[in-house]
Amino acid sequence: MKILAIETSCDETAIAILQAEKSPEGTEFSILSNQISSQIKIHALYGGVVPNLAKREHIKNLPILLKRAIKESKIKKPDAVAVTHGPGLEPALWTGINFAQNLSKKWRVPLVPVNHLEGHIYSALMQNSKFKIQNKGIFPMLALIVSGGHTELVLSKNHLNYKILGETLDDAAGEAFDKVGRMLKLGYPGGPEISKLAKKGNPKAINFPRPMIYSKDLNFSFSGLKTAVLYKIREILAEKNSRRGRRRDKEFFSARILANIAASFEKAVVDVLVHKTVKAVKQQKITSMGLGGGVGANDKLREELKKNFPNILLPQKRFTGDNAAMIAVAGYYRFTKKKFNKNPKATGNLRLSKS
Ligand code: KG4
Ligand code: ZN
Repeated sequence: MKILAIETSCDETAIAILQAEKSPEGTEFSILSNQISSQIKIHALYGGVVPNLAKREHIKNLPILLKRAIKESKIKKPDAVAVTHGPGLEPALWTGINFAQNLSKKWRVPLVPVNHLEGHIYSALMQNSKFKIQNKGIFPMLALIVSGGHTELVLSKNHLNYKILGETLDDAAGEAFDKVGRMLKLGYPGGPEISKLAKKGNPKAINFPRPMIYSKDLNFSFSGLKTAVLYKIREILAEKNSRRGRRRDKEFFSARILANIAASFEKAVVDVLVHKTVKAVKQQKITSMGLGGGVGANDKLREELKKNFPNILLPQKRFTGDNAAMIAVAGYYRFTKKKFNKNPKATGNLRLSKS
């Protein structure tokens, strides 16, 4: 069967078409087209995502991406349409839902609503343009989801079955990267820039706190770390200013200091994420584990997770950020269970659950 998926939860408009072939051992997926249009340049002007601008851009981009996807995949129509209905920015989510609804009516095929976060979980299983998801050897699966809006450790006993073992109590990991990026005047989003800078810095230069690292639960907190970085920046600036004998307040971190702040901050985030993941693995009986979400592109995180878990499933970097191919995979499993809904609602705070 062929499934077309639409993703508009944040600042990427994405449409993908996948072919899924079931066999006795599992399902073989081929990505026939994976279209993504990023709005980062537009939102960067405002230092973060502006929901109504995102909505306007999605409405403009969706028909263009659809045309491209249909042309590239050479299909007339798919057998189902999947769409992200949450979590995310509701004005943005509605654009995808309305578009998907019209397509499913026009083509007379089922509409399958998908949780964005289950897409990120399935992305761990996406190793190439063609990949097989076996029936055996996956579940129970532990997933670490790290994105701009979420930080969660999720246990899946089977397809579409999710239990949140731990989550952030305040900022998400990606949000912390973005906020620290802003403090360092690196533009939006801060994550990729910080990770680039961090490669040139010393992660031991500044001993930032590792919030909640030793708490008994599997929850996270990154807001205090972000504040610690802010205080450190102020301290460094004040020291410099006093040495210069006059007040100046910006743009004169040396490249070395900037790289050291980035590397030390990144190491603090990675330490907490890895420590809690190790703890979760000790507590649960699992068969496989995976990483998903935009922060999953971070090399330090990938490297440290790999050190601790040589068999961890790491998505290809092109599938870590928001894309519709991962929504198509999750949508396929929802399709096989007939989880159709002609009138899905955009749900900004949608949570993963047992379904
Ligand atoms: O999954 P995603 O594309 O969107 C959400 O669902 O939120 O994640 C975006 C987040 C942003 O916060 C961005 O700064 C972060 O992923 N990110 C990174 C890296 N690349 C993207 N964070 C750290 N290191 C990276 N290399
Ligand atoms: Zn995402």
